[in-house]
Amino acid sequence: MTCSKEYMDRAENAVLHTYNRFPVVLERGEGVRLYDLDGKEYLDFGAGIAVFALGYGNKAYNQALKDQVDKLIHTSNLFYNMPMTEAAEKLLKASGLSKVFFTNSGTEAIEGAIKAARKYAWLRDGSTDHEIIAMKHSFHGRSLGALSVTGNAHYQEPFKPLIGGIRFADFNDLDSVKEQITEKTCAIILEPVQGEGGIYPASREFLQGLRSLCDEKDILLILDEIQCGMGRTGSMFAYQDYEVEPDIMTTAKALGCGVPVGAFVLNEKTAQNSLVPGDHGTTYGGNPLACRAVSKVFDLFEEEKILEHVQKIAPYLEKKLDELVEKYDFLTERRGKGLMQGVVVSGRPVGEIINKAIENGLFVLSAGTDVLRFVPPLIITEADIDEMAEKLERSF
Ligand SMILES: Cc1ncc(COP(=O)(O)O)c(C=O)c1O
Repeated sequence: MTCSKEYMDRAENAVLHTYNRFPVVLERGEGVRLYDLDGKEYLDFGAGIAVFALGYGNKAYNQALKDQVDKLIHTSNLFYNMPMTEAAEKLLKASGLSKVFFTNSGTEAIEGAIKAARKYAWLRDGSTDHEIIAMKHSFHGRSLGALSVTGNAHYQEPFKPLIGGIRFADFNDLDSVKEQITEKTCAIILEPVQGEGGIYPASREFLQGLRSLCDEKDILLILDEIQCGMGRTGSMFAYQDYEVEPDIMTTAKALGCGVPVGAFVLNEKTAQNSLVPGDHGTTYGGNPLACRAVSKVFDLFEEEKILEHVQKIAPYLEKKLDELVEKYDFLTERRGKGLMQGVVVSGRPVGEIINKAIENGLFVLSAGTDVLRFVPPLIITEADIDEMAEKLERSF
């Protein structure tokens, strides 16, 4: 029995089977490469599902965490701590928003955003039957509130009843959103680039149209930047490229680059008219270790000029993927923004291609039912992209 096989068997015995995992036990990482227990190397175009923006083994990031471990790991929210303050200030500067609440995951950030929106509307009119409009094919997480605004019946069905008052509209169709608006609507929630649903960027007119609609009717616009934010599309947050500001923004994944942390971030109007002491809380959120990671991530984004790099390298990834779409009949379309790209596969199971790619030492992800998803660490080079394309072609 190989070492890997033994760990996989033990995991299957001990860990609840909610994932069909690939038969790989990962042990360490370096840059854009991961290594399994048997020493096999993989080029990583998944980044732990759009998490590890800075690549693996970034020395400055690791050192900051080691220093914080030796100083203080946890305090609770009954006290102040320095990393939380610093991380919050940097997140506000990067987002242009006004107040932060730190969470431990993306789904918790969505829960907080929903609560803030409901409280805002309750303070305005005192009623308790407010509605939220979400998008079909969206993904916002697995906890019950986040699942309720996730436009995928398959994920929702066994867990009903979910939270009430959620209506679904078609992404990129402003009229479809308008049809769902009632006097009870308190918020519209969407991903500026839909990720899990199949890599669909919002159109400019859709996002700007939603902003105008929300302004007109005092509805809060919640933008979920958990996957598309933190530099992935070439701006720190995807909405910045659309020149649209949310009332509430959610972030996670690359925010901590591997340390579990998320946040919902409010503009001044929403912060002044929603959650107050006693309304919301968390034991770990704002924890010094997680916030040291966040703070260091923002520093390194600046020092390593990550946004400039994404803007420069993303057209090369697009070009390479376009060439593949041109060359292979079963690849029908490329779509995406920056280093968040999808290629639609027709007439072949995406899972088979991914399995073959793993055999060939390449990690790529799926999205929706028929999309190959490319969300590499943001530090990839042209040579990495060439290698990815070569390994992918071999996997076809
Ligand atoms: C857009 C979006 N929102 C929310 C989530 C949920 O985040 P988490 O898995 O950290 O709870 C995800 C996770 O994939 C996501 O892509």
